Amino acid sequence: MATPEYYVLEGGDRMPRIGFGTWQASDDVLEKSVESALASGYRHFDTARAYENEAALGRALRRWIGSDSARRKELFIVTKLPPGGNRPDLVPEYFESSMKDLGLDYLDLYLMHTPFAFAHVPGDLHPKNPDGSMQVDHTTDLIAVWKSICKLKESGRVRHVGVSNVNEEQLKRLCAVQKPACLQIEVHALCQQPAMVAAAAALGVPIVAYSPLGSKALADALAAKTGREYPDLLTLPAVQRIAQAHSRTPAQVLLRHTLQRGLAAIPKSTNPERIKQNISLWDFELSDSEMSDLSALDRGEQGRICDFSFFIGIDKHPEFPFKK
Ligand SMILES: NC(=O)c1ccc[n+]([C@@H]2O[C@H](COP(=O)([O-])OP(=O)(O)OC[C@H]3O[C@@H](n4cnc5c(N)ncnc54)[C@H](OP(=O)(O)O)[C@@H]3O)[C@@H](O)[C@H]2O)c1
Repeated sequence: MATPEYYVLEGGDRMPRIGFGTWQASDDVLEKSVESALASGYRHFDTARAYENEAALGRALRRWIGSDSARRKELFIVTKLPPGGNRPDLVPEYFESSMKDLGLDYLDLYLMHTPFAFAHVPGDLHPKNPDGSMQVDHTTDLIAVWKSICKLKESGRVRHVGVSNVNEEQLKRLCAVQKPACLQIEVHALCQQPAMVAAAAALGVPIVAYSPLGSKALADALAAKTGREYPDLLTLPAVQRIAQAHSRTPAQVLLRHTLQRGLAAIPKSTNPERIKQNISLWDFELSDSEMSDLSALDRGEQGRICDFSFFIGIDKHPEFPFKK
């Protein structure tokens, strides 16, 4: 069966299963990258309040939309409530700030970025204590925050709401209130999360894989800080061998593996050639044995890169999702 290019969400809205990641790009680089992405056929764009780039993304998107409202309908735009906004009364205010910066009439998907929370400090999305640890809000009521996010839909300015970085137990708790339209989590060859993927499928929640290429910038930064080794996914022998067999790049093989597992992915690139590569995935197929070889690369929890250890002290939050 052909690999579907979209998830179909409630009400028939289509979420392209390849989206464009925007984390860690300066404003001018991001605007140019978004132009390349639009020209290459991307219609799904992922940002977050915490990336501090919503205004740059909004400018590039609005230039492309111009006065053609049909073009807006082609797009699927995602942003996220930052950890400092994880209080029910703050949700509308943070949502409005994102909408103002994006400059769009409506949003396609609004995600709770993390189940843990920072203190709400106006003008500082990552508030720290003098010793470098995060100012953590330990009083988070996850369900109350989720209900407040769900309520945003009543305004008609957000079409779908979802979550990111929650664990299986948290996802089940949220589903008991209202099923998220999607779950965005780290998934790549070394961190395949089979149990979470199965649990989300059983609950009917589609998964979007973040850092699908191994987030080299984050991995390098963490390696420099901690001395831990983060293998480069693109140079793994199995990935290289399969890429050669299909005359494709290692990145295309990694993304195709994610798609054939039934997931969506949001690779980020600032290079026009690689931007194009990362969405040129629909005209080749990995065999069952190639899928098995790639699935065998999974390292479980050891393979996780974005474990939020860079937010010092956050592992003590009652809703920290990755308890050992
Ligand atoms: N919900 C969350 O908490 C969360 C966390 C992390 C990420 N995200 C989202 O997921 C997106 C993607 O994750 P990510 O940015 O962490 O990492 P990623 O997409 O796994 O990797 C990006 C890196 O791969 C390189 N790259 C891209 N395409 C390539 C290709 N075809 N060949 C070789 N190298 C390639 C990029 O370099 P060049 O730019 O030089 O090409 C960049 O260094 C983010 O941008 C963000 O939107 C969400």
